[in-house]
Amino acid sequence: MEITRTPAEMQETAGRLRRDGFRIGFVPTMGYLHEGHLSLVRASKERTDKTVASIFVNPAQFGPNEDLDRYPRDFERDLDMLASAKCNIVFAPTNDGMYPEGNRTFVEVTGLQDGLCGRTRPGHFRGVATVVTKLFNAVQPHVAFFGQKDAQQAAVIRRLVRDLLIPVDIVVCPIVRESDGLAMSSRNIYLSPSERAQAPVLNRSLLEARAMFDGGEKSAGALAHRIRDILATADLGSVEYIEIVDRDSLEPVTELARPALVALAVYFGKTRLIDNIVLGEKGK
Ligand code: PAJ
Repeated sequence: MEITRTPAEMQETAGRLRRDGFRIGFVPTMGYLHEGHLSLVRASKERTDKTVASIFVNPAQFGPNEDLDRYPRDFERDLDMLASAKCNIVFAPTNDGMYPEGNRTFVEVTGLQDGLCGRTRPGHFRGVATVVTKLFNAVQPHVAFFGQKDAQQAAVIRRLVRDLLIPVDIVVCPIVRESDGLAMSSRNIYLSPSERAQAPVLNRSLLEARAMFDGGEKSAGALAHRIRDILATADLGSVEYIEIVDRDSLEPVTELARPALVALAVYFGKTRLIDNIVLGEKGK
């Protein structure tokens, strides 16, 4: 497995791979990898010839009071995991490499970046859209893989490549969960043992919403109400939001006629967890 440290070196490698006729698959990450990340690497291995994974904790997507400084990092462990998954290239740039001195250019996906997580994390999706655009320019992938875990991020990236005519196919892979249903996340290590024990309530509440929907309930208000009741049975800090929105536009819906995203964010103590489910998709 090759390790690349600078955007220029990465572009050179990408150019060589493209000239040799390889299709490049790309998995952007902030490291501290888990099975969720590795599922994206596997999806890329299946669909492309060479897989590049990036590890970069992007300062531009963290707010001033967020966890940039304490975001978990373990580069050696990440490399071992990527090597075991037979990833071909790791792109691990520095802050200066990604944001050259005097950087003044940012990418915004207006509207889509403002609701859901964007409401309490202003600037977050601008940071994500900016770094993903830069990473795409460095890695020059044919296909890039993202997780449904971060549903709003996936919607933002889909729109970004469409609007900016970026020639990259976006593949969104299913949420990988622990055996008790908790969605895997690098931030789960922040949870105390008792918070960890309560955390599967997120998934439970979403599965209950699915059961109600399958039983004929199409009112977003009724589904959100039930989710709130289930979350209230746990000893959690607070519910930031429970929202039911159109899967692509992220506009709130009142009746579930088209595929809808049911998304929630809650605090366990200081730890913020998100989860979601899509209802009304064909075949589900
Ligand atoms: P990070 O949180 O490290 O996640 C990297 C990718 O892994 C994202 O596409 C995310 O949705 C996916 N992922 C995380 N947990 C998952 C799970 N349980 N199941 C499936 N996929 C999962 O998301 C980011 O980094 C950053 O915002 C990034 C896109 C790298 C830009 O900085």
